[in-house]
Amino acid sequence: MLSEELNDLINRVGPGTPGGDYIRRYWHPVELSARVAPGGQPKQIRVLGEDLVLFRDQDGRAGVLGLHCSHRCVSLAYGRVEDGGIRCAMHGWVYDVDGRCLEQPAEPDDSFRDRIQHPAYPCEELGGLIFTYMGPPEKKPLLPRYEVLVREDGTRTREWYFIDGGYLQHLEGALDTVHAQYLHMANWSVKKYEVASQPKPKIDSAELSYGMWSRIYKSHPGAVMGTIFSHFVMPGGFLLQNGRDYENRPRQRTDQPAQPQHDISKNQSWYVPVDDAHCLRFRVNFSPLNPDRTPASLRPDAELVHSRRGDDYGRDYDNIDSISGIDPTVGATFRSQDTMANETQGLPYMDRRMEHLGAHDRPLTMTRMIILKAIADVQKGLDPKHVIRDPAENQIVYVRGDDPQECFNADSEPTPAVAWS
Ligand code: FES
Ligand SMILES: [Fe+2]
Repeated sequence: MLSEELNDLINRVGPGTPGGDYIRRYWHPVELSARVAPGGQPKQIRVLGEDLVLFRDQDGRAGVLGLHCSHRCVSLAYGRVEDGGIRCAMHGWVYDVDGRCLEQPAEPDDSFRDRIQHPAYPCEELGGLIFTYMGPPEKKPLLPRYEVLVREDGTRTREWYFIDGGYLQHLEGALDTVHAQYLHMANWSVKKYEVASQPKPKIDSAELSYGMWSRIYKSHPGAVMGTIFSHFVMPGGFLLQNGRDYENRPRQRTDQPAQPQHDISKNQSWYVPVDDAHCLRFRVNFSPLNPDRTPASLRPDAELVHSRRGDDYGRDYDNIDSISGIDPTVGATFRSQDTMANETQGLPYMDRRMEHLGAHDRPLTMTRMIILKAIADVQKGLDPKHVIRDPAENQIVYVRGDDPQECFNADSEPTPAVAWS
């Protein structure tokens, strides 16, 4: 459990809060690059409790600006992208991606224009995502060049969806791998005897330079089996690595095409707080080429849609043989199970005073300690962990290590995240 004070500290991400100060020291994805066209209609977005407008100018530069015009606060999302920036619909002021005011067509005095600095956050693009940095400009780190974002020897796709609740409860749901054999178990009325007869889950975890590494052995005697590696990547990220099942077969989901040569896949997620009570999950999936040099087939870029609270998460208690009655056998309803579990912990965000954590929750407690330490570091004027400033360390950032077979070395010890040239 956490005290109310610590729970608020770790959940609140708005401007001026300690948790917000912490999470602003990192880059956050806000949209897929391909969904923001040069000169295209601007988009209203909300990130870390701030209302913003996202656009791409006619030179192709992405911009994230404060939503409300510096003149009389009209929404810039209704503006037009032209003439070097975005033009407010009300009186035609134009702002570029750096927040400079380029035009005030109804004003006689040009010096007024020069005194305007509209709120603007820097953007960079990598792996098909637009990232923004919302912290102090002098503290801006490098955008980490994660393996899943920069490798060119395989297939990369991107997915996203919006969820209710604090970012941390969704992150914790991902790190809590033991839930797979309960929440996601199909044929529960039969499988529960197999689950009950198994040894207790064996979980290792270790704090590393990027956050936390965790491994669970043979956790799921159902559709999803094998050793699973999960990683907390600061500030609110998660990476899942698939191991092999009991028969040494690649891990396989029933709703995905058989890919016998598809040895390794890395799925890295960013749980980006929209505000204290909502979150956007971006996930980048990367699979290297198969040994015969053919590409792995992954789902195309897409917003993921699944049953939500309004339709009872697709529950059919009388006819679906899972604990909840939500179907775990296809991707969309599998996600509905996760969303149910994470959202029903509590809205607007989970109250951790009520929980009773057990032995297998160690990855969660470790993650919270890492975040709380990072919040304290920022308050003391220090850099939090996993802030990268040296370009030599940022050519490729691997989560856990650079061994392509790492996820099959179930007995190997974790190594620090490495930056590797
Ligand atoms: S309110 Fe935007 S230009 Fe006047
Ligand atoms: Fe899950």
